[in-house]
Amino acid sequence: MKVAVGLVVCLCLAAGGNAVKKPTGMRVLGGPSDNPIGTTPPNFPGGQIANDAPPGPFFQDFRPPFPTDAWWSGFTVGNQDATVAGPFPFQCATTANGLVMGLSDHRDFDGTSIKVNTQQDWTVGIADLPNDLSHRKATSWDTQTVCLQYFNNGGATMDTCLVPGSPYMSFKFTNAQVVLTSNKDAITDFQWVTPGTKAKVTHAGGTYIIYVTSGNLQLAQDGTTKLVSPPGFGFTGTIRLAKLKEASQEAILDTHSSAIPSGLDMRYTVAGDVSTQTWTWSVSEGNAADLLILSWPHHRRVLQNPNYVGIQYLTLKGQMKGVRGNTWTLRHELPTISWFAQNAPHASCLSELKKTLEAEVNKLEVMIPGDFYFWGGAFGRASRLALIAEHIGETALINKVVDILKQSVNYWFQPGRTPSAAFETGWGGFINKDGWNNTWVDFGNAYYNDHHFHYGYLLQGAGTIGKYDAAWLNEHMDFMVHVARNVGNPSPNDPHYTVTRHFDFFAGHSWASGIANGAGPRDQESSGEAINGYYGLLLFATAINNQALIDWSRLLVAMEIAGAQEYWHLYPKTTDPENPYPEQAFRDLTTVGNVMDTQAGAWLFWGAERIQIAAIQILPLTPIGQYNYDRERMEGVLEYCKVELDDSRFGDDFKSVIYAAYAKVNPVQAYEYSSNLFDWGSGNSASNQLYFVATQPSTGDICSAGSQTPEGLYNIQDVATGQYVTVTADGHLTASTSADVLGEKFILAFTPGGGTIKSTSNNKFVTAGPDGTSALTAARDTAQSYETFRWAAQGDGTHFLTAMVNRAYVTTVPGSGEMFNNANATNGVQASRYRITETEETSPIQVPARGVLRSKQNNNYVVSTNGDPVLRATAAGAGDATTWAIARLAGSPDNAPQFTIQNTATNMYVTGNADGTTVLAATAPAPQAWEYFRIVPYQGSYILIHAVSGHAVSLQGDNTLIDNSNSIDNGALWDIV
Ligand SMILES: *[C@@H]1O[C@H](CO)[C@@H](O)[C@H](O)[C@H]1NC(C)=O
Ligand SMILES: *[C@@H]1O[C@H](CO)[C@@H](O)[C@H](O)[C@H]1NC(C)=O
Repeated sequence: MKVAVGLVVCLCLAAGGNAVKKPTGMRVLGGPSDNPIGTTPPNFPGGQIANDAPPGPFFQDFRPPFPTDAWWSGFTVGNQDATVAGPFPFQCATTANGLVMGLSDHRDFDGTSIKVNTQQDWTVGIADLPNDLSHRKATSWDTQTVCLQYFNNGGATMDTCLVPGSPYMSFKFTNAQVVLTSNKDAITDFQWVTPGTKAKVTHAGGTYIIYVTSGNLQLAQDGTTKLVSPPGFGFTGTIRLAKLKEASQEAILDTHSSAIPSGLDMRYTVAGDVSTQTWTWSVSEGNAADLLILSWPHHRRVLQNPNYVGIQYLTLKGQMKGVRGNTWTLRHELPTISWFAQNAPHASCLSELKKTLEAEVNKLEVMIPGDFYFWGGAFGRASRLALIAEHIGETALINKVVDILKQSVNYWFQPGRTPSAAFETGWGGFINKDGWNNTWVDFGNAYYNDHHFHYGYLLQGAGTIGKYDAAWLNEHMDFMVHVARNVGNPSPNDPHYTVTRHFDFFAGHSWASGIANGAGPRDQESSGEAINGYYGLLLFATAINNQALIDWSRLLVAMEIAGAQEYWHLYPKTTDPENPYPEQAFRDLTTVGNVMDTQAGAWLFWGAERIQIAAIQILPLTPIGQYNYDRERMEGVLEYCKVELDDSRFGDDFKSVIYAAYAKVNPVQAYEYSSNLFDWGSGNSASNQLYFVATQPSTGDICSAGSQTPEGLYNIQDVATGQYVTVTADGHLTASTSADVLGEKFILAFTPGGGTIKSTSNNKFVTAGPDGTSALTAARDTAQSYETFRWAAQGDGTHFLTAMVNRAYVTTVPGSGEMFNNANATNGVQASRYRITETEETSPIQVPARGVLRSKQNNNYVVSTNGDPVLRATAAGAGDATTWAIARLAGSPDNAPQFTIQNTATNMYVTGNADGTTVLAATAPAPQAWEYFRIVPYQGSYILIHAVSGHAVSLQGDNTLIDNSNSIDNGALWDIV
């Protein structure tokens, strides 16, 4: 509830100079706390701005802050006439004629959603209301209730306090002519049951009981659709309307009709890991002990010693059941997880986790904000890397991450930069200024959409920085406390922010929608991000060591999780009679995508894939998911999503969190599923995935060495042909030599999601095309997704090789030996098997700087002269042979050094050609690529490999030399003496 202060001047003017009495007589009710997180005024880099959807005259007696996601927000913005769901079990709307109210008679399942459409049964008003927006206004509100007044220019008023859970709508009239208008055709029956105190009226919307609890009301039918009190006789007193759905309800409604709720004070305490909330309704008439309030399933799970009454109403959230008395006590167990998962990562996962984390931290870049939402997801993701580093003792990585986080968030502190954070003055809140007049900017951020999603990430990241750098957080404390107040303020005494902007304490969960589009039916798609919103608040509270805020955010986390499990998670096999969704076919859909005020369905505004609908209730993956991802649900989700999970055409990002959450069921299986991932989306990472899986309780190993990427220096051999893979001058990988020494030495290394393959002869990473139509080529200086491969070890020690870019197996083309990533399970192309053999780091090759060459085949020495520069192994004695100067090519790789071979008599260099089809001759005056050779020691002799053709120099029948051999025999061996 809000007490108006400080608006005297402008209201006096608005009222034409007559002093207007502010409603100051209201009891200060509300809660949950008297103590705000902070009270400082906003001072943001973006300054102040009002969005273009200002609060309407409904708030004429008040000044901001105003609620932006209350069930009654539809009364407050635009035309102030959106139909809202509430106060449950009713739906209503404010119009110029009065309060429209109804109670839906339908609950339908359409194959995707349960729908309980709003129903307009009656309009309750007074005579002589002007046709405008300004003759109705709020008089008070609290965490659940809104009280409002209709008034005409003749001094007549109608006051009502709309209290969620009350099965009666109550209206207090002063000097007014009462007008009840049927919105469901003609009144078919109207009679007083007890003259002056109880009547019944029936129309196509069913039967309502009218209780007159005070005053002397005369009510008569006027025409076919109206009940009115006599004109010219101002009625002062109270009436209540209750819908009689079943005859059995009447006696109970009679019994409780005299106790009228007017508001609710919510308080909570935390002792250890348990929170106790006390909800105390005030009554404006009658005996508080007789108060009847209807409860939802999520209430009944935590209500202590309820005094149930046998009356119920079916709503979207299941049966509402009556509880007697004006005090509820609700008990929640609180999460004990904060920064870290509850267990240390399993030992079997540590080395992989460490490697993965290192790789991801080394790749981390400063995220530059373009908005709050996407930036926030990346910022939150990055912050997890620092925490994982701490948990596994990789302390050197922490600062690296924290530095990047700081650079990233610092953008928000820079004046003059866009997007910028600004204070929205119409309602009171922290917004992305860019969106002040555009609902499409940052998901309607400036219209108070999704703030708990957006700022949960910011709080999570800022809290993480603060954990490691308290001075930094101190410096930015005011900004961050404003962010926390904007979504997590627990107190009506904060002068700038409404109480817990998105959380609906009666509904038991948050809503994401704000005031855009007239604040029509509310919705929330991502229960996962809602939980994360309050988890972010918890981490921030922990970082600043604010115990009150820690307690409060733990409670919010606990309630949001309970709400998600009750209304978003579907349990096909449940037999729980309290389940809100008794429709088996609906529960078979296993996951709600969107809960709205009037429907809950397995659909999203933005995506139709099952994995998307399920994943958005899981992400972001953080340790708090330990509570949210319950076993029964995850079993259902995996089964429900199986076809998409198994189909590589569906992206990995959403699959990743489903697999991770499945670790609650079976961590070993979850590890295996996760090992097939290649992309974790912008909010998850390979380390975070592995961390969640590895921290599940397990009696045996979770991670297995078998699926690890081979690392080191390897030859690769095509098993079918026995040929070793070489790298040609244009970088193509070809299985083309039967000699391992002629095979390329590849550096195989780990990268998240697989491994990289790097050629040692050209120092480039092997890359694969996304369509599998170009040969694998060693051609890239850095490794990204196209350069990621996975080796799958087979039982016989061979491997299949998958190019992750298209998840196709690599196959060797017979003949050319070129390798393509074009084999998959469905296109009939066979995957090749490869044998990888660890090979030695070549020790610095000792090649004589000068010498004569002798063939191991014919034992003759090589001669080349000015007159006949062709190399011929014809000389019987060393004295007749040509002496060669052999020089290492500067810059050639140590693993595969290259040399030039120069005739010391003629100064000419030995040359071949690219194909290995011409005889070698010492004819080149200056060495270029065709004059480069690798010289490899082998069995006491040397192999000479032409750098371009990739073939070994071999003795021909006519004693000439040609680089045309792919196998090693004596013809390809040479002594240098
Ligand atoms: C918002 O206001 C700016 C500046 O006045 C204007 O250029 C822009 O077109 C407006 N956007 C929308 C969606 O109205
Ligand atoms: C298999 O490869 C073909 C192209 O050869 C491609 O059209 C198809 O989508 C691939 N199938 C799978 C399941 O990846």
